[in-house]
Amino acid sequence: MRNRRAALAAIAGAASLALTLTACGQSGEGGSKEDKGDAKGGTIGIAMPTKSSERWITDGANVEKDLKAKGYKTKLVFGEDDPEQQVSQIENLITQGVKALIIAAIDNKSLNSVLQQAADAKIPVISYDRLILGTKNVDYYASFDNEKVGKLQAGYIVDKLGLASGKGPFNIELFAGSNDDNNTKYFFNGAMSVLQPYIDSKKLVVKSGQTKMNQVTTLRWDGATAQKRMEDILTSSYKSGKVDAVLSPYDGISIGIIAALKSDGYGTAAKPLPVISGQDAELASVKSIIAGQQSMTVYKDLRKLAKVATDMVDATLNGKKPEINDTKSYDNGTKVVPAYLLQPVSVDKTNYEKELVQGGYYTADQLK
Ligand code: GAL
Repeated sequence: MRNRRAALAAIAGAASLALTLTACGQSGEGGSKEDKGDAKGGTIGIAMPTKSSERWITDGANVEKDLKAKGYKTKLVFGEDDPEQQVSQIENLITQGVKALIIAAIDNKSLNSVLQQAADAKIPVISYDRLILGTKNVDYYASFDNEKVGKLQAGYIVDKLGLASGKGPFNIELFAGSNDDNNTKYFFNGAMSVLQPYIDSKKLVVKSGQTKMNQVTTLRWDGATAQKRMEDILTSSYKSGKVDAVLSPYDGISIGIIAALKSDGYGTAAKPLPVISGQDAELASVKSIIAGQQSMTVYKDLRKLAKVATDMVDATLNGKKPEINDTKSYDNGTKVVPAYLLQPVSVDKTNYEKELVQGGYYTADQLK
C-alpha cells in the first residue's frame, strides 16, 4: 500500500490520492487526509496470548475485523501461552514494519526490551485487556473494570448463600488467576473486598486455609491445574463437610473445578454442586450454566473491547487523542497508563438470554 500510495501520489498528486484512499474504505473520521494517508493501509500487529481459550480467538477475530473496516491491514499472532514465543513474535511484527501494536501479554513483565524496540521504531502500543508492566513504552490500556469483575463474582456468591441476611456458616474455596497477569490481583482483591468480612465473622470458612493470593493462583489460567488443586483440597480438607461455594476467576478454571467436584460425587440431589463463579461467558460455561452446573459468569462484551482498542490505534496514528475514561487506576510501575475501562456484567441462568442471545453475542442455536 505504501508503494502504491507513493506511485499514485507521484502521478496524480495529493488530491487524487485522497480520493483513492477514500475508495479504499476509510471512515473519514478526523485528521487531515494527508495524515490519514500515512497510517491507513498500513499493517497493525496484534499479539494475542493463546488459542487454548476461546475468548482470545474471538478477540483476535474481532480486532482484525474492526481494523480492516477502518482501512488497515492486520497481522495476528498467538503466543501459545509461552512468554518467550510472544516476545519473538512481537520482534517479528516490528521487523515487518507494523504501524502499531495491540498486545495482550502472556507475562506482563517480559516485554520491556521488545517494547523498547517498538518505541525506537516509533510504534505505538495498546495494552489489550491485560496491563503490561514496568515500561513507559505502552501508550494506552483498553480493558474492563477488573476490580468490579471480582466484586460481581463474590457478590453473586454472597447473594446465593444468603450471607447478607445472616445465613451461614458456609465453606468456600478460593481460586485466583495466573500470577504473571496483572488482572489477577484486581479480580482477587475485588472479590476479597466482598468476601473478607464474612471470612472474618466466620460465616465463610476456608477449610483448606488457603486464603492468600499467592496460595491460590493458577499458572496461565490452566483448567487442569485448577482441577488438580481442587482435587487435592477435597482430599485433604473435606473428609467431612462439603464445599458450598467456590470463587473462580475464569470459566476455564471453573470447568476444571467442576470436573474435580463431580468426580468427588458432587452434582446430585444429596450433594449439590457449590455456587461457583466464572468469567468470560465462554460457550462451554454458558452451556454449563444453562445445565445448572456453573452458577454464573462475568460477561465482558469482547466486541466493545475490540472497538475501544482499534479506536485507540486509529486515533493515535492520526495524531488524535483516543477517548479514555480512567487516568488513575492503572499504574504499571513506571507510569499511570491512560485507560478506557468497559463495564462487566454478571450473567446467570436468569439473564443469559437477554444479555447473550438478545445482545447478539451468541445465537440460541449455539447454546443448545
Ligand atoms: C485475563 C482476562 C480474563 C480471562 C483470563 C484467562 O487476563 O482478563 O477475562 O480471559 O485472562 O484467559
